[in-house]
Amino acid sequence: MISSSGRRRAAVVGTGAIVGGGHLPALRAHADRVELVAAVDVDPGRLDAFRAEAGEGVAGFSSTEAMLDAARPDLVLIGTPPSLHREQTVAALKAGAWVLCEKPLCLSLAEYDEIAAAEAASGACATVVFQHRYGSGAVRARKLIRGGELGAPLVAHCQTTWHRDAGYYSVPWRGRWATEGGGPTMGHGIHQYDLLLHLLGEWEEVQAMAARLVHDTESEDVSTALVRFGNGALATVVNSVLSPHEVSRVRVDCADATVEVTHLYGHVNDDWVYTPAPHVAEERVAAWREAGEDVPSSHTAQLGFVLDAWDAGVRPPGSGREARNTLEFAAALYKAAFTGRAVRAGEIGPGDSFYAAMHGGSGTTWTGKGRA
Ligand SMILES: NC(=O)c1ccc[n+]([C@@H]2O[C@H](COP(=O)([O-])OP(=O)(O)OC[C@H]3O[C@@H](n4cnc5c(N)ncnc54)[C@H](O)[C@@H]3O)[C@@H](O)[C@H]2O)c1
Repeated sequence: MISSSGRRRAAVVGTGAIVGGGHLPALRAHADRVELVAAVDVDPGRLDAFRAEAGEGVAGFSSTEAMLDAARPDLVLIGTPPSLHREQTVAALKAGAWVLCEKPLCLSLAEYDEIAAAEAASGACATVVFQHRYGSGAVRARKLIRGGELGAPLVAHCQTTWHRDAGYYSVPWRGRWATEGGGPTMGHGIHQYDLLLHLLGEWEEVQAMAARLVHDTESEDVSTALVRFGNGALATVVNSVLSPHEVSRVRVDCADATVEVTHLYGHVNDDWVYTPAPHVAEERVAAWREAGEDVPSSHTAQLGFVLDAWDAGVRPPGSGREARNTLEFAAALYKAAFTGRAVRAGEIGPGDSFYAAMHGGSGTTWTGKGRA
């Protein structure tokens, strides 16, 4: 339903840091196409503060169900702790609303398949927030790589080396299997390896190690992986919250050029660097470097893609198979780290213990060095 003002009606669920800092600016930037009509939070203080910031006309609710019944939104933006994402996404889909949910979309492949079933029953779509796919630098790099302009992809590095302290992990839902789903593999590095998969296409096989070296968490605080892609390219992935010099980085070496992006929490065109191989003519290089419009990676950029897809009557990018693919990569990384053997795409299905939970049923604390 589109309101009498011609705009789609949106609601936010959760009014904490990312909704205030990412989703609200995105809704404001697209105010000509979407109108925020409702907000939900179980914390009345946060809800009041958010509504004071968001402006008049945003109705407040303490439960998602009550909000869905009363406000009947077209689009629900979810920014609650990860363990709530599945049930809130399914509830919104059942009410006929599209969903744009924070990462991780849910905690396991089993949960994802429940969301997919709710999508199929309702005809609405659930998209996961991976804002780094949607900046203009990433859009251009993907077009060049997937279009073969840079030659065959051969070697890639994907680095999330961030730093989080004990205060960060004192928030009860963080670092626990039941509430965050895992450590930096699920919560932090997922942005960068989602971008890697988006740039390089289908992954085929993962080998991995993980450890809990510093924090008082159940899950890992560092993980590393080796990946083979369907096109033959090999990649390394690092997901760390132990790294004083914080960097987010993806580098892809193709036969004719290296393309790399180095940033922290968001990229712009200038963060993308193209280095040609010696045999490449200057005219080709000039074309790669023609940046065009500079759209920073952000919730604003992603919301624009979602609204465009809706208007065009097509599934939004970052939903369906694409969303599942990144979650399956996380499950494969954990399975490889826990079992010490390579995991192939497609092998984790119902009946596999890593289908139901990223810890594969152990649910225990990583024992420092080595495996749980
Ligand atoms: N895309 C990004 O770059 C990015 C960055 C930070 C966080 N995140 C993700 O956003 C999510 C939230 O993180 P945050 O840092 O904003 O957390 P936060 O704790 O600041 O906010 C969560 C909010 O949800 C509310 N809440 C809890 N239970 C609720 C319920 N049942 N119904 C409604 N509201 C409820 C809390 O009261 C709180 O206000 C997480 O999934 C996190 O991984 C994404």
